[in-house]
Amino acid sequence: MNGTPVAAAGLLRAARESDADRIREFVCSLSPRSQYFRFFAAVAPPSTGLLRALCGASGTADILLVTDNHGNVIGHGMAADDGRATHIGLVVADYWQQQGIGTLLLAALVDRAAGRGVRTLVLDVMPANQRMLGIIARRWPGAPRERTPDAIVIRPELPEPTAAQHVPVPSAVCLTGVSLTGRCQSAEHRAHGRPAA
Ligand SMILES: CC(C)(COP(=O)(O)OP(=O)(O)OC[C@H]1O[C@@H](n2cnc3c(N)ncnc32)[C@H](O)[C@@H]1OP(=O)(O)O)[C@@H](O)C(=O)NCCC(=O)NCCS
Repeated sequence: MNGTPVAAAGLLRAARESDADRIREFVCSLSPRSQYFRFFAAVAPPSTGLLRALCGASGTADILLVTDNHGNVIGHGMAADDGRATHIGLVVADYWQQQGIGTLLLAALVDRAAGRGVRTLVLDVMPANQRMLGIIARRWPGAPRERTPDAIVIRPELPEPTAAQHVPVPSAVCLTGVSLTGRCQSAEHRAHGRPAA
């Protein structure tokens, strides 16, 4: 019998101040390239101020985490509101990239921002970050773009929330190919490049 892959259980949830150690470990595990694409700098280990911001200690940002079945952080998403706009930042552990976690975080942040009455997303993306530019272009092809010395700043208008976009938080996440609906694809169960099982 070939057997059916057993999905590792992950969780999409809001961050808490008590997640500081987990988030520090996650940031320190990121490759220099992922740090640079997310923070425009090398940030490991994170400063106290950055760590507080990533935990949501200021209370002014919506912070979501994806954790693996051991509670390790494998994805971090942040939406920092500025009036009717919100600045979005995402980063996924290198091993787990391109398995649906980033777009899951993005969908949840957008959905929750719409619920707060936010009308515009602001995404600062490095010109070399083709993956993130592709994700944005496929979702908001007509969004206004501005080139700054460091980044491409894209400002999609937020669509009206629909039932199909709604991502409840906290939610179980299938980590053998991420899905909130139970649809799983094959992938090894790992976090931070290590086996998680
Ligand atoms: C960018 C990032 C958050 C995306 O998360 P992820 O979990 O890897 O992405 P997902 O698996 O959810 O989605 C992969 C998407 O990238 C696309 N993609 C993959 N490789 C690509 C490439 N070389 N060029 C363009 N698009 C690419 C896939 O088609 C898919 O897009 P779709 O859902 O629109 O079809 C993640 O790769 C990451 O953390 N990168 C480093 C930090 C970073 O760049 N953060 C963004 C700062 S704004």
